[in-house]
Amino acid sequence: MEYSRGKLIYEGKAKRLFEVDGHPEWILQEFKDSLTAFNALKKGSFENKGALNRDITSMVFKFLEKRGIPSHRVADIGTNEMVTEKLNMLKVEVVVRNVLAGSTAKKFGIEEGTPLEKPLVEFYYKDDALADPFISDDQALMMKVCRSQSELDELKSVALKVNEGLMTFFGDAGLRLIDFKIELGRNANGTVVLADEITPDSCRLWDKKTGEKMDKDRFRRDLGNVAESYQEVAERLKQSFLKSQSQTLAQSQEIKS
Ligand code: ADP
Ligand code: TMP
Ligand code: ASP
Repeated sequence: MEYSRGKLIYEGKAKRLFEVDGHPEWILQEFKDSLTAFNALKKGSFENKGALNRDITSMVFKFLEKRGIPSHRVADIGTNEMVTEKLNMLKVEVVVRNVLAGSTAKKFGIEEGTPLEKPLVEFYYKDDALADPFISDDQALMMKVCRSQSELDELKSVALKVNEGLMTFFGDAGLRLIDFKIELGRNANGTVVLADEITPDSCRLWDKKTGEKMDKDRFRRDLGNVAESYQEVAERLKQSFLKSQSQTLAQSQEIKS
């Protein structure tokens, strides 16, 4: 199928969104080579970053789809673009933490790397002008992120399901999933759909053996080897994605025989 890139709709920090000619129900997302931190106070870029993040997001979404988690992905095109379903985005970033790190470790003065007894789900109000502040459930309702507590509970349950899938997928690639952020939207039927991206920009990933950071913290904290780490994550995920695909094939052949 041919996808023709239409008018630019929006340029964000990591992606540009375009219309798809003849398909008002889709948007084309171009993953940029730029990377930012601290609400774009710190800016950088490296060659091929957009292509790596598109490939990583695509593999993650395909893996999750097989586990019954729908995403906005329609198709990959070129090296750094993805056609997606156009969603009504919820004004919230949902963060899941398995190990304390980053802002929540700092907030409570607990050492980074402290494992949590159970995954912690947090909501942040998605508004760059306010620097995406943490919000309680009641604040989320006040700000009309969702209409009811049961809808907020549904977001938490989707986020925890995503966490289980990601723990398996990243775990098989020798990566420890410390925490991650997702964005969700509603489609025309009102179903909650996983959107945006899942990449080293939006996850903390530590090498299982060495504990080395393999994500955007390398850029945030000036640790060096940013491009090399994203490349390594993409390569490892490719291996475990191919393995998971051949396992699925073997299982379906077993069922048939
Ligand atoms: P930001 O807007 O934070 O700078 P990006 O550069 O990644 O981030 O821009 C992508 C934008 O597209 C985000 O605002 C995100 O909420 C939005 N988005 C992601 N997926 C979809 C979708 N399926 N439908 C509509 N908007 C989306
Ligand atoms: P935090 O510890 O800084 O709150 O980040 C938690 C997770 O969310 C981490 O994996 C990085 C990701 N994240 C984003 O994807 N976008 C953001 O704007 C922020 C602040 C964090
Ligand atoms: N996403 C934010 C930014 O791009 C913050 C971060 O990821 O650290 O500035």
